Amino acid sequence: MNIIISNDYDELSLEAANLVAEIVKQNAYPVLGLATGSTPEGMYKILVEMYRNKKIDFRNVVSFNLDEYIGISSGHPQSYYHYMFSRFYSHVNINPDNIHIPNCQGNDCQVICKMYDEAINAAGGIDIQVLGIGSNGHIGFNEPSEKLYVNTHVTDLAEETIKDNSRFFGKMKDVPRQAITMGVGAILKAKKVVLLAYGSNKANAIRTAFNGEITTSVPASFLQLHSDLTLIADRDAVSLLDISG
Ligand code: F6R
Repeated sequence: MNIIISNDYDELSLEAANLVAEIVKQNAYPVLGLATGSTPEGMYKILVEMYRNKKIDFRNVVSFNLDEYIGISSGHPQSYYHYMFSRFYSHVNINPDNIHIPNCQGNDCQVICKMYDEAINAAGGIDIQVLGIGSNGHIGFNEPSEKLYVNTHVTDLAEETIKDNSRFFGKMKDVPRQAITMGVGAILKAKKVVLLAYGSNKANAIRTAFNGEITTSVPASFLQLHSDLTLIADRDAVSLLDISG
């Protein structure tokens, strides 16, 4: 694993944006796997700035978002659809036909999940997967559990995730209880994975994810199996990690 330790949030965001920009520039048809949440907000801001300064072109980019809540509409201010369009997609020249955000609100979820994985495969797989990490070690909405799923699926959110995400909804009761998420398979199949972690509330998750053990109770620990993983974190997030060796 390659570890980049940043001095502050701006530096973390810049490092992440540079890695994404490199992939966009290197590939004729770059396929991006994208995350939402607080952590990558700065990265999206910088990518938009790069686009405005004509340093990057998203014309041929294909994107796949990791996840979406079930139970709120795309138009809801806390939907990941709204997050992605308001912070990124609406501000760059990505072709709307190339944007993929999983979404199932009815009883057709199984079909939608299958189609999502097929679309990722048809695009040639993900060139760079950007991830955040939950304070409980989740990636996407692959929550700690007895078993994890390879493919895109519907999942119940863990209590800790509902609590963590209530900061966006105001009240615990308004946080959706379910989501659709890419599975661990598509994440591990990405050619390159970049995990972003910022702040002391991620320190324990980072410690348990990278202590040499792999367990479904810390889904991010499976990232240890990836051959091209970069962790970009501030000092607080890696404060419990033994990085001496
Ligand atoms: C979001 C996602 C989640 C977040 C994680 C960290 O698309 O898949 O796994 O990356 O919950 O969220 P923040 O960055 O808000 O701490």
